[in-house]
Amino acid sequence: MSPRPRFLGTAQICRQFTTSAGRHAPFVPGGFTWGNPIKCRDSSQPRAILFSYRHAFHAGNHADVLKHSVFVRVLDYFNRKDTPYWVVDTHAGAGIYDLTSEWAMQNGEFIDGLDRLLGADDMPVMIRRYLEEVQHFNPDGVANFYPGSPWLALRLLRDRDRLRLFEMHPSEAQVLKHNLAQQDKAATRQTLVYETDGFAGLRALLPPPTRRGVVIIDPSYESKADYRKTLLAMQEALRRFATGCYLVWYPLVQRREVTDMIRNLERLPNTQWLNVSLTVRKPSSDGFGLHGSGMFIVNPPWTLYGDLQAALPWLERKLAQDGHACHTLTQSTRPA
Ligand SMILES: C[S@@+](CC[C@H](N)C(=O)[O-])C[C@H]1O[C@@H](n2cnc3c(N)ncnc32)[C@H](O)[C@@H]1O
Repeated sequence: MSPRPRFLGTAQICRQFTTSAGRHAPFVPGGFTWGNPIKCRDSSQPRAILFSYRHAFHAGNHADVLKHSVFVRVLDYFNRKDTPYWVVDTHAGAGIYDLTSEWAMQNGEFIDGLDRLLGADDMPVMIRRYLEEVQHFNPDGVANFYPGSPWLALRLLRDRDRLRLFEMHPSEAQVLKHNLAQQDKAATRQTLVYETDGFAGLRALLPPPTRRGVVIIDPSYESKADYRKTLLAMQEALRRFATGCYLVWYPLVQRREVTDMIRNLERLPNTQWLNVSLTVRKPSSDGFGLHGSGMFIVNPPWTLYGDLQAALPWLERKLAQDGHACHTLTQSTRPA
């Protein structure tokens, strides 16, 4: 294994983390492949089937790059105003990931994601901001740790803002809680972790008391029911908190459910939305794997479209795996 690539720029503060698959963690072969039909290994334990996704296998991949660049930019925008806000993350994962762990290195997905951006000096502002936040967790300049959405939020929230995290996988939730306990007092005071279903739990938190909020919905779509659940959760959330900013991540896989979900999200009544997708390679002939991903954003900051317009051609060039790489960027035309 060649040495991990370095960030450009200055070093910052370091903290110690446990990751869901550290170097000494038990090696779990496999990991989940998008488009792979969920196989029933033991029909007496259907819950176990739903829980094969672990984000450590995918941390820092091209989909994380797109998702987290958008997330950082949205939080930057929310931080422009002093009024406090809430971030609700319905599918939080473990929080932070060790890219040198066996799980992350099994497929090395970060090599065609984060790693391709490192060392570039001509990057658009959106990508620069994203890398600044990732670099914070790698103070020696070597890209060993990757912050997931909860850790990016913890970095960017101010003291009066609040973070609410849902994580249903018992082991991931345990790691998330452990890592959170290591944070400073302000972080633990402003954050709650719920080890329950984020789709169901979201509605109880809306609207947030501050009436300002960002909701990130980032399921693994391991079960195709997640597409329907995402749509239902959005419909219910908008009934309760119509002015919230919602970020829905989706995979580009060869499934009808993806296009159906996007079409239905676009039809949500009285909403302003922005839809961005990035394809990095030709879809595989067997229908497996993730050839790209997208973010559907409801009530986006007005600055986001321009940021994405500037960033996408650059990102497409950097992350392209073959000649089929492309991007799309569309937004609602109706006034809200
Ligand atoms: C794609 S990962 C999340 C990654 C994280 N949002 C990030 O960007 O760093 C999806 C996570 O959702 C968890 N999960 C699956 N179904 C869930 C549900 N119904 N409610 C809450 N968490 C769930 C999985 O265990 C997994 O850790």
